[in-house]
Amino acid sequence: MTAPITTTEAWARLAALAARPDAAAIRRRIEADPNRFARFSRSGAGLLLDLSRTAIDESLLSALLDLADAAHVREAFAAMARGEIANPTEHRAALHMALRAPADAGFRARTAEGWEDASSLVADELSRMEAFVHAVHEGRLRGATGAPFASVVNIGIGGSDLGPAMVTEALSSIQPRLAAHYVSNVDGHAIAPVLAALDPARTLILVASKTFTTQETMANAAVARAWLVSALGEGAVATHVAALSTNAKAVATFGATPEQTFGFRDWVGGRFSLWSPIGLGIALARGWSAFAQLLAGAHAMDRHALAAPSAENLPLLLALVHTWHATFQGRGAYACLPYDQRLARLPAWLQQLEMESNGKRVDVDGRAVTYPTAPVVFGEPGTNAQHSFMQLVHQSPAVVPADIIMVAQPDHGLAANHRILLAHALAQGAALALGRSGEEQEKAMLASGMAADEAARLAPHRHFPGDRPTIGIVLPRLTAHALGALLALYEHKVAMQAALWGINAFDQWGVELGKTLAAGTLPALETGDVGALDPATGGLASALRHLGG
Ligand code: F6P
Repeated sequence: MTAPITTTEAWARLAALAARPDAAAIRRRIEADPNRFARFSRSGAGLLLDLSRTAIDESLLSALLDLADAAHVREAFAAMARGEIANPTEHRAALHMALRAPADAGFRARTAEGWEDASSLVADELSRMEAFVHAVHEGRLRGATGAPFASVVNIGIGGSDLGPAMVTEALSSIQPRLAAHYVSNVDGHAIAPVLAALDPARTLILVASKTFTTQETMANAAVARAWLVSALGEGAVATHVAALSTNAKAVATFGATPEQTFGFRDWVGGRFSLWSPIGLGIALARGWSAFAQLLAGAHAMDRHALAAPSAENLPLLLALVHTWHATFQGRGAYACLPYDQRLARLPAWLQQLEMESNGKRVDVDGRAVTYPTAPVVFGEPGTNAQHSFMQLVHQSPAVVPADIIMVAQPDHGLAANHRILLAHALAQGAALALGRSGEEQEKAMLASGMAADEAARLAPHRHFPGDRPTIGIVLPRLTAHALGALLALYEHKVAMQAALWGINAFDQWGVELGKTLAAGTLPALETGDVGALDPATGGLASALRHLGG
């Protein structure tokens, strides 16, 4: 057993820094230092990370870097890249970095049977995927009636949906090769309208499930299969369905052919799997070269994360500052604000990545942690967020840090719109950091001719406390390469935070109880016999049945 991180000298120093009266002061720090942006921004893998609008200073940075050393974050990260068991509760490596590395990178994964040549497995599967994608795009692979495929429907949930769906949308400036649809929810309202609008003869169905046992995905896959069979006959399944999974046996039972089954191993976690065959929908929708560029961008960030010195290391710095906010300042939530409409699903992807990975209550040794771990993550694209929840972020007593993601060059010709967008992105960070006092506001109201009593009455309502941190992340352009780097930045930030907190980022036992109870609840809804349910749940189930459920 390792000593809890709370017993280290670095932790005690950070706790003392957090107790300083000016621990959260940002405005004062910005006003005191004209070089603050240069001192607290860093570049790597084509991205810019700006920490200057947080309360970071030299002493805080040095204490945070000491914490990283005390927690052996770099060592844990390197061990993960070496394919060691990073997920001890499931005895698995976490080798998503192998998915985006060149074929000769030599990644190996430790498994129960010994070491596995991860890079070769990845290279083989990537070349099969590439051949499949080209065959579909070039019309060499057609549907049962001989019609070329025009649409692809990805059926999957969680990591088998959020990443590919988000990336497909993020790359929407690329001319689509196939129309892509993503169905995740078992709610029939999700799949029914998608299938109703499609021609089965021209539709490819991807069943994306690491385990191929997820109830929601299997139920939706059965619906899609029946839809294909009723229009085209049983024989159509072989050409119209591709399966993306680690469970070859279950895939074969479902009826996907080995030629259209794309596999990966359990050392790829679901929420880290968009780079694996689970990302096939991205390549089908946006083209193989976009998918290859996405992988290359992530690989560039992997190399940076492994090699850059700690004080220059983007994922580590992001992890440290977020940990300062969540753990030492008790900020229970943070907002993800992408100022690019194409990144609208980024917050949803990030929610799973952060909260399923690090929403943990015990450390790797099973001891209850005594400090907050992952905060709640939420978000919307800017500027929509400003007209929704940003009121709370500016003025609530709860301080909510935010990541503001900006893209310098748009892929449209509406230069004026883009300047307005960026002006808002910059101004939000400034307003949150600098605030505006009640007196300043009162003065401005008086100067605009407002009566003194009205100005005094309104001043507290119009007071912006400021000292609210934002982290800026800048992409020169939303290319597939830059997107890959951005997503890998967050993946590594999450893995490094887990190392700081001493928790396992790669299991998700917290989702299991609900699944088990749902399995026991289904018969009650089918039969109306609620006797096996607890009285509260049984009462609600009976009420639903009574109303026709
Ligand atoms: O229930 C949570 C989870 O296991 C996620 O971790 C995963 O991304 C999702 O379900 C889907 O799992 P699968 O790809 O095996 O269907």
